[in-house]
Amino acid sequence: MPETMRAAVYDRAGSAQDTLRVVEIERPEPGPGEVRVRVRFSGVNPTDWKTRAGARGAGIEHDYVVPNQDGAGEIDAVGEGVDPARVGERVWIWFGAWQRQHGTAAEWIALPERQAVKLPDNVSFELGASLGIPALTAYRCLFADGPISGQTVLVAGGAGAVGHYAIELAKHAGARVVTTVSSGEKARLAEAAGADVVVNYRQEDAEHAVRAAAPNGVNRVIEVAPAQNLPLDVRTLAPAGTIVFYATDDPELTMRVFPRMQANVTLRFVLIYTVPEPALAEAVAGVSAALAEGVLTELPPHVFTLDEIAAAHDAVEHGAIGKVLVKL
Ligand SMILES: NC(=O)c1ccc[n+]([C@@H]2O[C@H](COP(=O)([O-])OP(=O)(O)OC[C@H]3O[C@@H](n4cnc5c(N)ncnc54)[C@H](OP(=O)(O)O)[C@@H]3O)[C@@H](O)[C@H]2O)c1
Repeated sequence: MPETMRAAVYDRAGSAQDTLRVVEIERPEPGPGEVRVRVRFSGVNPTDWKTRAGARGAGIEHDYVVPNQDGAGEIDAVGEGVDPARVGERVWIWFGAWQRQHGTAAEWIALPERQAVKLPDNVSFELGASLGIPALTAYRCLFADGPISGQTVLVAGGAGAVGHYAIELAKHAGARVVTTVSSGEKARLAEAAGADVVVNYRQEDAEHAVRAAAPNGVNRVIEVAPAQNLPLDVRTLAPAGTIVFYATDDPELTMRVFPRMQANVTLRFVLIYTVPEPALAEAVAGVSAALAEGVLTELPPHVFTLDEIAAAHDAVEHGAIGKVLVKL
């Protein structure tokens, strides 16, 4: 009789309450080049509820899907070709559910060994499960266009998961960080992450405040709401600056071309799943190095049980402030 485990699954696109349920399925065995991880925390990101809700198509390629990309736990078995010394290693997981049937919302996951990265001894599983999607995205957005030491970076939505790691990684890389937020609670989180200037765009004129903080303009913008913020971004950007878009608040983006040419602006779009391979490896290494140096911190956790998986997805969908985690 194969061993079984508890896992959250869905077999069609739809609302969290209608589709997610917890079942017993076969515990995975690690294949060649794979490790098996006893998952302790599964991290929930917007990508997880959007995929479950049908953002990448309503069809499901498998009988069922175990959701969630990120997680952390210990390796308890390795497949052929993997160093047996990895058994017992504490790890953080990235891309657990990307083009795969089995994500991290389960007691175990088996996946290619490079997607389970050593977690330093002093780093919690909660932080480990918070890194994959947001920290890798923040890293790529910040560094795709070269070093940022001595530059000013504007991070939109600095209390969001990507924004949080963008602030911490940018500060560590020697940049000055200006960030925008929509509330006092979010301002406190952005300050705690180390932002030099925090602008509450609901309480003050954001353009005026960003200009006052960076009279020569910001060199790079890490943008979560392109349609909403493009006017602010282009008006506060330094000559030869770069705007990096990593989310969509409107499918269309319109801008006047010539002023951007005159300023030699660079526009970059990032989707972490399809970042070219060497850059993805660089992001994993960069996030790992920052973690080892104690640069990355947790957002306030909201911990759910596996039986509460639907509530966990809904919390992210409804914009929970902090990090939504599922404890296994
Ligand atoms: N391209 C990629 O590879 C990639 C990777 C990760 C995430 N994403 C996407 O990026 C977005 C943020 O992800 P996250 O994990 O950082 O989420 P999060 O933790 O929920 O944070 C989102 C932050 O974005 C700000 N925001 C501004 N306009 C928004 C809008 N129209 N809708 C939602 N949030 C808005 C909010 O800050 P204020 O309230 O302070 O404005 C909020 O704190 C999501 O849409 C996600 O799907 C894309």
